[in-house]
Amino acid sequence: TSTATITPESLGFDSVPTSLEDRVIVPQGYRAEVLYAKGDPIEAGLSEYLNNGTDVDFDRRSGDEHDGMWFFGISDDGRYDPNRSDRGILCVNHENLEDATLHENGVTSAADNGGSRPLIEVDREMNGHGVSCIEVRKVDGRWEVVRDSQYNRRVTIFTEMDVKGPAAGSDLLRTKSSPQGIKRWGTMNNCANGYTPWGTYIAAEENWYAYFTRTDDTANRSDAENTLASRYAIGLNGNVIGPGWNYREWDTASSNDVYARFDVTATAASPLDDYRNEANLHGFATEIDPFRPAQKPRVRTAFGRFSHEGVWAAPAVEGKPLVFYSGDDSRGEYVYKYVSTANWDPADATLGLAAGDKYLDDGKLYVAVFSEDGTGEWKELSYGVNGLDENNPLYPFRNQGDVMVATRLAADHVGATKMDRPEWAAVHPINREVYLTLTNGNQSNRPADETDPANPRAVNSNGHIIRWKEASDDNTAATFEWDIFLFGSAADRDTDYNLSGLTVDNQFSSPDGLYIDHRGVIWIQTDDGALTDVTNNQMLVAIPGSVRDGERKTVMTTDNDGVTSTVESWIGQSATDVQLKRFFVGPRGCEITGISLTPDAKTLFVNVQHPGEGGSAELFNTDVSTWPAASRDATEVGAAGSRPRSATVVITREDGGEIAV
Ligand code: FEO
Ligand code: CA
Ligand code: CA
Ligand code: CA
Repeated sequence: TSTATITPESLGFDSVPTSLEDRVIVPQGYRAEVLYAKGDPIEAGLSEYLNNGTDVDFDRRSGDEHDGMWFFGISDDGRYDPNRSDRGILCVNHENLEDATLHENGVTSAADNGGSRPLIEVDREMNGHGVSCIEVRKVDGRWEVVRDSQYNRRVTIFTEMDVKGPAAGSDLLRTKSSPQGIKRWGTMNNCANGYTPWGTYIAAEENWYAYFTRTDDTANRSDAENTLASRYAIGLNGNVIGPGWNYREWDTASSNDVYARFDVTATAASPLDDYRNEANLHGFATEIDPFRPAQKPRVRTAFGRFSHEGVWAAPAVEGKPLVFYSGDDSRGEYVYKYVSTANWDPADATLGLAAGDKYLDDGKLYVAVFSEDGTGEWKELSYGVNGLDENNPLYPFRNQGDVMVATRLAADHVGATKMDRPEWAAVHPINREVYLTLTNGNQSNRPADETDPANPRAVNSNGHIIRWKEASDDNTAATFEWDIFLFGSAADRDTDYNLSGLTVDNQFSSPDGLYIDHRGVIWIQTDDGALTDVTNNQMLVAIPGSVRDGERKTVMTTDNDGVTSTVESWIGQSATDVQLKRFFVGPRGCEITGISLTPDAKTLFVNVQHPGEGGSAELFNTDVSTWPAASRDATEVGAAGSRPRSATVVITREDGGEIAV
């Protein structure tokens, strides 16, 4: 493990300029190589990816749209080794699909194919989702995927999973495809991730709700079922019942449950005879043991159900409960904290999913209230507590399983604070403070008359990063103090709006991926719509101080209706104070998301998601991007006409030194 003491003066590289080029930019002296791109085989003997839309076997290839990720070191005897830096299992989420490049001629609709989507396309799409677990190793200073490794595995929408925790077996989870409510088919829209002290990976589901459709079936649903489906926008496009915005007509491909369940229309008297409860099985986080590839993943319902961006652990403390933080990434949604009932025993670090059964199935879930005075409070979401029972005016909670399925309604009831799209969290490994990206807002969720000190900017199209310090620096505490670490902004467009003093060397918008490495260096990744005229998406580095290092200031903003809001808030340090620098810029049309640093701090894994987004299907987006190059040098431009691919990029220093210092 690296031992350097980090101070802001430690960042030993020059900020890279903004870029609109179709390639990766890293500081001088750094190498950036494509390690694992969409379609790469994970089995010895499987053909190379043709990248022309004809490849079929995505259950044995890299999925699409790389997102959250984690590196787990492997010891020589095949166990989790948190100190190993040259051999490990990389787990990578595949959030979604680049439709224009996945098939030979784009997506064939059901209407264009006699009423059913072609099975070959649907299988490619469902296998293109999920998670990859792949062995990677460093040989003579260069990283490679070990194609014949026993650990290589794809988890997809076809992977059978066990449902665990308070909602397992609940009647809300019983459905035609899972009559006992303890089985789920696969996982989808795995945005960000998490990891546990026992070396397992957590894949969260974000925009899962948008894959379902339903026709107007409100007559066949109880009032409680209607309330639940509406609060989670199941089969809603706006307020109109119908297909979700990410609906892919998978249900039309076959009457087999695994496909048909994407139509959640209540067609029968009993939910056991239709698929209405399929939607209740999603929106949880799933635990995967990378070291035991034969074991089925386990759906951990105790983390609650919402647009789960990810699940991030506070450092484990022997003899104390384990703590995990989650954001619900939709406009005006909430921030959650899970505290295990069992106290951490390091002897459990070898148990794999059995440790998950002990620590992740039994605990308390809380939701955050960010108060106007700069303090905050965690409200408990437990059956029978805070009015969460059968008589609740929003939803009739009958048990803890109901609270875990209707989590948003429980959080509504206890008065949680509506945030500007909570994305990733990161817990500082040294002072235990928690950072969370609030990627952005818009006029409808944040007009000037609805700002508050924690979400102080009207509209907020560039987002901010909030942080909090739990009482007594104990992550299990019921109260905290918060401030705003940094505000996104263009450097020169509106000086009143540039509250963190950003310059051309560090301007950014829409923070999303977030990571604080073991040295205390914070990494900020962007998924931005508001600054893409200036730069492709990027990754920045800083050395954060502490909550309340800054001061209380007035934030004044005007919304799109011309109404001005004035709010006092706690503003963190300036970009100069924390030496915010730009470290990486991606190719055109991409988002930068997913990050893991090896324990020796000499290798950084970063994901480039959907290069070429924004192009036309006819041109396979090559009018926007052709990245990556066949050479696999991520800093090179791809060949003319080649279809862009999401990929994991591995960053090392040419002199073999530590990253960023
Ligand atoms: Fe998939 Fe909230 O980002
Ligand atoms: Ca994200
Ligand atoms: Ca995002
Ligand atoms: Ca994305």
